[in-house]
Amino acid sequence: MNVGAPPVRPGKAGGVVLVLGATSGIMRAVAHELARHGHDLVLTGRDRAETETLAADLRIRYGVRTRARQLDALAFETHAREIEDCIDDAEGQLAGAVLGIGYLGEHARAQQDSLEARRIVDTNLTACITLLTPLANHLEANGRGFLCVLSSVAGDRGRQSNYVYGAAKAGLSAYLSGLRNRLHHSGVQVTTVLPGFVDTAMTYGKEGMFLVAPPERIARGIVRAVDRRRDVVYLPGFWRGIMLVIRSIPEALFKRLRL
Ligand SMILES: NC(=O)c1ccc[n+]([C@@H]2O[C@H](COP(=O)([O-])OP(=O)(O)OC[C@H]3O[C@@H](n4cnc5c(N)ncnc54)[C@H](OP(=O)(O)O)[C@@H]3O)[C@@H](O)[C@H]2O)c1
Repeated sequence: MNVGAPPVRPGKAGGVVLVLGATSGIMRAVAHELARHGHDLVLTGRDRAETETLAADLRIRYGVRTRARQLDALAFETHAREIEDCIDDAEGQLAGAVLGIGYLGEHARAQQDSLEARRIVDTNLTACITLLTPLANHLEANGRGFLCVLSSVAGDRGRQSNYVYGAAKAGLSAYLSGLRNRLHHSGVQVTTVLPGFVDTAMTYGKEGMFLVAPPERIARGIVRAVDRRRDVVYLPGFWRGIMLVIRSIPEALFKRLRL
């Protein structure tokens, strides 16, 4: 265990960062922010061509080294090998990873169709665990690095309008809490990011959105949170107060609300 190794500061130049789900609205902005700070990047996305285009754009724009890999979050059996390949791409310089894969799904459909419900849970929880397991083991063996994962405020309390997605994110947040507890002892930082509503393809055209933040603002917050080795961060920060209020509503009253 290399306990004496200096902490990796993703906001400063140096080290390769693995960006999982790089073509997402938020994660594109994260990739730009990391490249702007001088990080070389390994990017994974579901769409190979789109991920390669993003990698080429970042390379030209910021003069960093980038690699692109295709990765399907639902092909669980490939994850250990894919992560191994990503680690190899980093050529011994892996500073850490940011994971932003997610699927909101159609909640009304998920209430009727258990396969839609399963897809929501598989994408937001199972896939994250099968991807993070080999990554966590690698970083733990190195005794340094970081994992930063996008969960959601939706996981803080189940609401009738999105409780399947909320349940998956709640499971993810609990998993990250335990992983942080385990990896703290080997010098690896685990950061849980809880965004509120963000203006991306995920929320486009959806009803009931308020205080919607631009992805660039969230990306700056993510890189700052990792840089400061934060444990749990709400983005924008005012969501911490909103969720404190929502969590404190007694269940007897909460069940009567239409949220
Ligand atoms: N937008 C919000 O209001 C909000 C709020 C709280 C938390 N979040 C979380 O933030 C993260 C990023 O979301 P976003 O807002 O940027 O939305 P997004 O643009 O829809 O991003 C979702 C990402 O997940 C990827 N993905 C979904 N299913 C996949 C699969 N089977 N295999 C591989 N990749 C898959 C998508 O790939 P493609 O690019 O190929 O579609 C995309 O990169 C997610 O974890 C989301 O749950 C978002």
